[in-house]
Amino acid sequence: MLCMSQTVTLKDKTFKPYIPQQKIAEAVNTLAQKINEDLKNDFPLFLVVLNGSFMFASDLLKEVTIPCQISFIKVASYHGTSSSGNVTELIGLTEELENRTVVIIEDIVDTGTTIERLYEVLTRKHVKKIVTATALLKPEAYKKSYKIDYIGLEIPNAFVVGYGLDYDGLGRNLKEIYVLA
Ligand code: IMP
Repeated sequence: MLCMSQTVTLKDKTFKPYIPQQKIAEAVNTLAQKINEDLKNDFPLFLVVLNGSFMFASDLLKEVTIPCQISFIKVASYHGTSSSGNVTELIGLTEELENRTVVIIEDIVDTGTTIERLYEVLTRKHVKKIVTATALLKPEAYKKSYKIDYIGLEIPNAFVVGYGLDYDGLGRNLKEIYVLA
């Protein structure tokens, strides 16, 4: 069994314990209570951005008690033929978004490129309001100006794994968050 005092080696890198389960749980529960209060009249659609957000989304949404819908998406980007360059597509989205309050559920906001792409796509679908919730934010790395409404924990600009986050596909199943040793 793995306990917080142990390091974890994933492929060629070693990670050390960084954020314990209890601290993550407290942050996530605080976010859920805020969402319950702020969005109680909005009938929000939570858009869980896979893969990394699965654990955060599961913990958060178990504590969300307001009427809502939940959908799971992947963000795919390909080079379009038009002059607009990269085209972003949301894979897995079947819900009608027009006039909905959409809550993006992210594992981590780093540079903000993913959030920017999501904003572009969702804006084109004429949503009523875009709200963003992330388990982690790296404020020093964040380069965009989109408001991140709900932030679990802010961390320095370091590479972390666990709680859904991976290094080369590994480490997503770890209950705690680890940082490069
Ligand atoms: P952004 O588009 O630069 O904000 O990056 C967002 C995505 O990069 C996240 O959804 C993660 O998949 C990945 N990412 C950013 N930082 C980390 C990290 O420290 N560990 C694991 N994945 C990360």
